Amino acid sequence: MTAKNTPTVLILLGPPGAGKGTQARLLEEEFGLVQLSTGDLLRSAVAAGTEAGKQAKAVMEAGALVSDDIVLAVLHDRMEDPDTAKGVILDGFPRTAGQAEALDQLLSRSNQRVNSVISMEVEDGPMIARVAGRYTCATCGEGYHDQFKQPAKAGVCDKCGGTEFKRRADDNAKTAGARLTAYHAQTAPLIAYYEGRGVLERIDAMADIATVSRAMSDAVKRVMAT
Ligand code: AP5
Repeated sequence: MTAKNTPTVLILLGPPGAGKGTQARLLEEEFGLVQLSTGDLLRSAVAAGTEAGKQAKAVMEAGALVSDDIVLAVLHDRMEDPDTAKGVILDGFPRTAGQAEALDQLLSRSNQRVNSVISMEVEDGPMIARVAGRYTCATCGEGYHDQFKQPAKAGVCDKCGGTEFKRRADDNAKTAGARLTAYHAQTAPLIAYYEGRGVLERIDAMADIATVSRAMSDAVKRVMAT
């Protein structure tokens, strides 16, 4: 909640590998907000074999953007859940001008607005390595990296003790390149859109995870105090 007692709406904007998911989970723990990742929601739809999931599967594997209609439908359903009452961290949404406008309309129905957009600023080249080295715990979803974030005990999840890990179908160098192209063409223009509304904050996300986390935390504290 912001100081005005309205639910906080925070957007994390950044290309694949910028660290949106990593930082969203840390902010969730620190501030009690709920991470809503449209990538995770779409992967759940694919795994469940829903109609939306069937349509999204090939698009995601090619590294392109899923249609606004499908994305808005899965997000809308999730935003109705009661656990989002304190506020949400939107991870990977909006990604197009149409999605940004639809979000404004959705929030205005409940007198809410976007409180802050954090642009996670990175260079493209290292993002391929970040994405290609990523894996997650198959039990709790905690994220790891071959090089940058390994479990304290090899093969055992720090968080839940699970021993099964998985990698995403789109986490390979070729698809990561296509995802970066889609980001620059369709999503990066949103930086100027939100900057013009005075809600954008830029964070250097090339630093190590702990340093980025401290900068993100300070930014969110400022937002929640307003
Ligand atoms: P999505 O799941 O949203 O993927 P993405 O945006 O490509 O982002 P990633 O999850 O790859 O990266 P991240 O920034 O979360 O990085 P992470 O923290 O994991 O989307 C997947 C697909 O779904 C899209 O391509 C599209 O098809 C579809 N989709 C989703 N949303 C959509 C929408 N709104 N509209 C249309 N289509 C949509 O970090 C990556 C790795 O790096 C990890 O291993 C981590 O440990 C490591 N790492 C993180 N930070 C650092 C650091 N500071 N230093 C070193 N290593 C780090």
